[in-house]
Amino acid sequence: MDTRFLINKAIEARKKAYAPYSRHKVGAVAVASDGGLYTGCNIENCVFLGECAERVAIYKALSSGAKKIVKIVVVTGNKKLSPPCGICRQVMREFNPKLEIVVANLQKEFKILTLQDLLPYSFGPDSFRLGQD
Ligand code: THU
Repeated sequence: MDTRFLINKAIEARKKAYAPYSRHKVGAVAVASDGGLYTGCNIENCVFLGECAERVAIYKALSSGAKKIVKIVVVTGNKKLSPPCGICRQVMREFNPKLEIVVANLQKEFKILTLQDLLPYSFGPDSFRLGQD
């Protein structure tokens, strides 16, 4: 799927961000293996609970029945391209260790990363209980 199209979709999703505390708005779009697109934005809370845009998009996809996410596009307002946080990386790892991650800015500059770049030597479902009695 065209990267520019997906970046535009993530920019649209970012407009719905609820980020009154950090003022750091993020938009995302998760692409499922069947081609389904699921958008997300970050949603903060006055007790400083917060959900990242990536996780909102991934959870929307999974709760809609998607089985695998093949790509996620993330847009922030930072000119410097900003990669996903550690918690999001671990959530991504659960559903596809080979996930492609496109980080982009509002100028539509982008960089393509892989989860392997961002979370090498990771712990995943296949590591769970391995080697235990
Ligand atoms: N945030 C995201 O939505 N995605 C990231 O990858 C990093 C951080 C959000 C969480 C919080 O609402 C705000 O950005 C500042 O951390």
